[in-house]
Amino acid sequence: MKLFDEYPYLENEYIVIHKLRPEDAEPLRKLTEDPLVSRYLPTFLYELKYEDKALMIEREEEEYFRTGEGILLGIYLKGHGAGDAAGAASAEADQAPGSATRRAGADAPETFVGLAEIYGYEEERSKASIGDRLFSEFWGKDISTNVVGLLRDYLIDDRGLRIVTAHILPDNLASAACVLKNGFIRKFPGVPEDWGFDELCPTDKYVYKRYFRYKQERKMKVLLVNGSSHEKRDTYEALKVVEKSLNDCGIDTEWFWIGDGPVRGCIDCASCEGVGRCVFTDDCVNDLIEAMIAVDGVIIGTPVYFCAPNGALMAILNRVFYAGSEYGGRLFEGKPAAAVATMWRSGGNSAVAMLSKYFAISGMPIIPSNYWNMVFSPRSEIADDKFGKEVLAKLGEGMAEMLLRLNGGRQ
Ligand SMILES: Cc1cc2nc3c(=O)[nH]c(=O)nc-3n(C[C@H](O)[C@H](O)[C@H](O)COP(=O)(O)O)c2cc1C
Repeated sequence: MKLFDEYPYLENEYIVIHKLRPEDAEPLRKLTEDPLVSRYLPTFLYELKYEDKALMIEREEEEYFRTGEGILLGIYLKGHGAGDAAGAASAEADQAPGSATRRAGADAPETFVGLAEIYGYEEERSKASIGDRLFSEFWGKDISTNVVGLLRDYLIDDRGLRIVTAHILPDNLASAACVLKNGFIRKFPGVPEDWGFDELCPTDKYVYKRYFRYKQERKMKVLLVNGSSHEKRDTYEALKVVEKSLNDCGIDTEWFWIGDGPVRGCIDCASCEGVGRCVFTDDCVNDLIEAMIAVDGVIIGTPVYFCAPNGALMAILNRVFYAGSEYGGRLFEGKPAAAVATMWRSGGNSAVAMLSKYFAISGMPIIPSNYWNMVFSPRSEIADDKFGKEVLAKLGEGMAEMLLRLNGGRQ
């Protein structure tokens, strides 16, 4: 899928961003020749490809935009003069993220002040990067802050991306301030990147994620249920991956291990009817019910045993969900949930599917990821299952986003 089918036209009261015009060629030449502007920029930018900037503007659509590599846009100051741009930024800062007015329709004359760029689109990760460069006389007027806000809102709200990133050299404090004002966080500091110089440049990666849109009224918590008889082995490691991305998203976690003691199966005595607890109190079932009631979301991990979840875990869950569902008053309704499996070789899919049935019948929204929620055991032949871990990390993010949407509401 391509990120763009047409050139975006983005505007607020003070600036407008749109396709470059032929008359921008001469000022664009000056922009690219200004050493002050280029000192924080990579050497391989598309606008440097042709000496003749009119030719570059002509070819950009075919060579850059249509190939899906990126898009170069002009930034124009509306006719009131540069001073007003600062006003725009402070007005925007008072508003909720995403509230910048685009297509405001003001019919003001425009001054070309720089370039905005969207590049590095990754469909799988639903992510793209943004950048801009301005004539030095327009620095310090918060134009870049407005540009970042408009690009962010376009990518997140209009194009539905999950992640927008900006890559900034650590010395470029002004650009860092612009992204921070727009709610980005400095997620990866000093990552070595190729900027086209002799050596790799340590680069700060700033990230804005879609769920930042949702306000957290209180810290939410997810219960991580380790359904293995081993307290800290493969299932634990798999759940730790989910935990990390939950914690990175500001969600608290709590652990519940089912233990390695004997557990009973359900005997269909119906004692849980109207009570919501199991009549047997000599194993962890009622503790797990209490723990699930207390949290906002649940992730259950299991080792794969004969292409199914651990039998002891199933015995526990049969009773937990019988007591907690129709019989006990639908105790877990509305809590998002997901299952993950760890395995030697195969069967994760059927194990996850079986566990997901408990959620489906209990009114618990099931959180998706970008693949099946399973990972190979670190002790198996595929000791470092990078993709499996990526899927689990994404599951954690998905759970966080769902919780923030359900509980925080839109700012
Ligand atoms: C009884 C039993 C059955 C198993 N069946 C499977 C299986 O069908 N497929 C598979 O890939 N691994 C199977 N395994 C391996 C476990 O799923 C794997 O070692 C898992 O990562 C252990 O997780 P843990 O360390 O959290 O207990 C089985 C292990 C046991 C003990």
